[in-house]
Amino acid sequence: MAAIASEIERFNHLSATWWNSTGPMRPLHVINALRLQYVIDQIASHFGRERATAMAGLRILDVGCGGGLLAEPLAQLGARVVGVDASPGNVAAARLHAASQGVAVDYRLGEPTDVLVKDESFDVVLALEVVEHVADVPGFVDTVAQRVAPGGLLFVSTIDRTWKSFVFAILGAEYVLRVLPRGTHQWRRFVHPAELAAAVSRSGLQQYDLRGMRYLPLLHQASWCRDTRVNYIAAYTTKGAHALLSDRQGWSVT
Ligand SMILES: C[S@@+](CC[C@H](N)C(=O)[O-])C[C@H]1O[C@@H](n2cnc3c(N)ncnc32)[C@H](O)[C@@H]1O
Repeated sequence: MAAIASEIERFNHLSATWWNSTGPMRPLHVINALRLQYVIDQIASHFGRERATAMAGLRILDVGCGGGLLAEPLAQLGARVVGVDASPGNVAAARLHAASQGVAVDYRLGEPTDVLVKDESFDVVLALEVVEHVADVPGFVDTVAQRVAPGGLLFVSTIDRTWKSFVFAILGAEYVLRVLPRGTHQWRRFVHPAELAAAVSRSGLQQYDLRGMRYLPLLHQASWCRDTRVNYIAAYTTKGAHALLSDRQGWSVT
């Protein structure tokens, strides 16, 4: 069990606000366009597809999907998406919103170990902004990495455990600017990129891309950056299927 009861309870309390883009989930809404574009471009490049049709028929697992900010648009683009979350309120909010948009997403309530069928695997697995909320990060990451089909992709985004993340992600975001509710993050649960790389390597995956994400709380803007000491996203694929996708795509990173 990787779920932390107090964390799930906290997310449950916020579930009604999930799709309110100016409420407590505002930072997630702000970064969503950026990370969604990144995920789509990486998938298109990796699987050699046109960007517009890259999602068609792909099996995608979104672990810790919350209200479905990623799961829903990916399904809308043609992917067959399974969204897994341990918070009943979030899964209810996700189902309600998807139904209101006429989008089919297979939302499942629980932890990946409990709700995924034996041998169920996916072309793409997402664990975005979730590993900093679980106990036993290596175990959790290993569990989700095992669900990546051979040649598939895994994306993990989180916050690094550095002095800079303590200043910006905890003190700045929760206490000074209050763009996040106090207690959203525990600094000791933040994760180094090398810790993720070690955890996924047990499942035969290796990191091929790592980039920082800069969030400007006063402007409510997000952009990519080279500095991975606060927010970052990492992409992994099967060892040997390593491709220098970022080189081919000419990503703009400042
Ligand atoms: C910060 S939210 C991120 C939601 C979504 N991935 C996004 O980025 O929009 C973290 C989510 O992970 C879920 N979660 C935390 N621990 C979990 C676990 N062990 N299994 C499944 N979901 C979990 C929480 O309920 C919450 O919805």
